[in-house]
Amino acid sequence: MKPITTFFFLSTLCLSFVPHQIVAANQPHSTNLIEHACQDTNHHKELCISSLKSDPASQQADLEGLAIIAIKLAYENATAIADNILVLSNNNTDTEPSEEQGLDQCMDNYLDAVDQLENAIYAFSKNAYKDVHTWVKAAVADADSCEAAFEGRKSEITRKNKIFRQLVNNTLAILKVLTEK
Ligand SMILES: *[C@@H]1O[C@H](CO)[C@@H](O)[C@H](O)[C@H]1NC(C)=O
Ligand SMILES: *[C@@H]1O[C@H](CO)[C@@H](O)[C@H](O)[C@H]1NC(C)=O
Ligand SMILES: *[C@@H]1O[C@H](CO)[C@@H](O)[C@H](O)[C@H]1NC(C)=O
Repeated sequence: MKPITTFFFLSTLCLSFVPHQIVAANQPHSTNLIEHACQDTNHHKELCISSLKSDPASQQADLEGLAIIAIKLAYENATAIADNILVLSNNNTDTEPSEEQGLDQCMDNYLDAVDQLENAIYAFSKNAYKDVHTWVKAAVADADSCEAAFEGRKSEITRKNKIFRQLVNNTLAILKVLTEK
């Protein structure tokens, strides 16, 4: 090969190899880290792992990054559920009074949860992990209160509320791994 051909050959080789090496080096690392972050989530480990993976940013994230992703996912969930409750309570063509009461209670709880998770995100940005924990724990209590408001009756909201509760409870477990590392 002439030198110039060799150069082109080598640079093409490098270009085609580098991206694969980056992917190969990052993929197992981030998957292990997600599993490490989710290690204390017991029965809800699958939800913990799949929810973190649903955010593409989790691929490059360190443990701190995964914790903030978990809080943001919980925040987005709370916002979506609050919107959902609003739609349901505005559409009260044949809602029973007890269900309406449940919806009202859950609306209060979710407005609180949205606020508290916003506060958690702010506290996180200041590395005030103890405050983060307090705010996320308050969101777990909101979900419990919403669940109690339906007194065991099943509704679209109680199903979503259960998943939200697991998400925030998982977030507490991730924060524990982060702060005890
Ligand atoms: C809340 O998050 C869960 C898990 O990621 C997801 O399956 C669900 O659709 C979300 N709920 C809403 C209302 O966005
Ligand atoms: C409103 O309530 C009616 C009757 O229960 C139902 O058919 C309709 O799908 C509801 N709309 C929304 C947006 O939930
Ligand atoms: C909440 O998370 C803890 C682990 O951090 C777990 O032991 C507990 O079972 C979870 N509770 C619920 C109701 O999911």
